[in-house]
Amino acid sequence: MTLHLPKKVTIIEVGPRDGLQNEKNFIPTAVKIDFIAKLKEAGLQELELTSFVSPKWVPQMSDAEDIVAACLDLKTKAIVLVPNRKGMERVMHTPCRAVAVFAGVSDEFNRKNSNKATSELLKELIPAVIELKGKGYFIRACISTAFYCPYKGKIAEADTIRLCNVFIDAGVDELSVADTIGMAAPHESFSLFSKLIRNFPNQLITAHFHDTRKMALANIYAALEAGVVRFDASAGGLGGCPFAKGATGNVATEDVVYMLSRMGVDTGVDLEKLIDAIHLISPHLSRPIDSAVFRLHTAAE
Ligand code: HMG
Ligand code: MG
Repeated sequence: MTLHLPKKVTIIEVGPRDGLQNEKNFIPTAVKIDFIAKLKEAGLQELELTSFVSPKWVPQMSDAEDIVAACLDLKTKAIVLVPNRKGMERVMHTPCRAVAVFAGVSDEFNRKNSNKATSELLKELIPAVIELKGKGYFIRACISTAFYCPYKGKIAEADTIRLCNVFIDAGVDELSVADTIGMAAPHESFSLFSKLIRNFPNQLITAHFHDTRKMALANIYAALEAGVVRFDASAGGLGGCPFAKGATGNVATEDVVYMLSRMGVDTGVDLEKLIDAIHLISPHLSRPIDSAVFRLHTAAE
């Protein structure tokens, strides 16, 4: 008996966005730019660079234009988040051509994160998605609180799939489906991702796990079994949504790379160079890096 594993998996590095948005202090733009350069040197080819959100809500991302100006290149896919039409207009003044929009399955979360009920949020986002698609943009839809909401509790699979359908009908290229507060268990990951892969065979399906309860690697393994070959991860396990109570870091990229490489699955990421990138950012963070792979590497240096 052998495991049925893919030969190759794509990691979408979300540290510069999901990671740094949740830091207490503003990290200097030049440090962020060096961090992104090191992540690319490590072989990460798809990255969420920043977000064009309100600087009043998330001051840590207020340098989005500068980050994009310094970090776009022809070899990597640079994705930026937008929350609304204003964010979309800001992006259209930059050369960036890959945009992520985000919406939670629960109204309660959307009111905290986007100051709108889901129906109002979709009324703004869906025409924006259609317009951007018409202009040739790559669109990723991030589906938050896909398993659990910090305010509403358990989310029904049917509700998550319904929201995914709304974005698919608008023409998005990718769904990044998120366990925002790290509460999903592997059987839930397997069940939802199996259905998403079956229902949306023509779109990229990406799994986004936060590691709040240390179940992210198990959830990734379950999603792999369901057929997912794309995972969001954040170098050093940074991250969390400032508007989701209890949300902590994303699964650490180095932990995912280590696990996959031990199973013979290629990610194209050089672990040593990734550790260098984490060393570069860690002195600027308000908390220590607690990923096991980083700790073991650092102890051995
Ligand atoms: P609002 O206060 O209702 O917005 O916030 P508003 O339209 O009333 O505008 C308020 C002020 O912000 C105005 O400025 C606007 O011009 C400005 P003023 O007139 O007072 O000077 N403004 C903007 N400025 C720059 N760029 C913009 C923008 N929009 C408005 N795009 C809003 C509504 C959506 C703007 C706000 O709630 C917001 O920015 N939310 C973003 C929250 C956020 O970034 N959350 C984290 C990302 S999502 C996430 O982490 C989850 C994910 O990782 C998946 C998962 O794990 O679940 C993706
Ligand atoms: Mg997240």
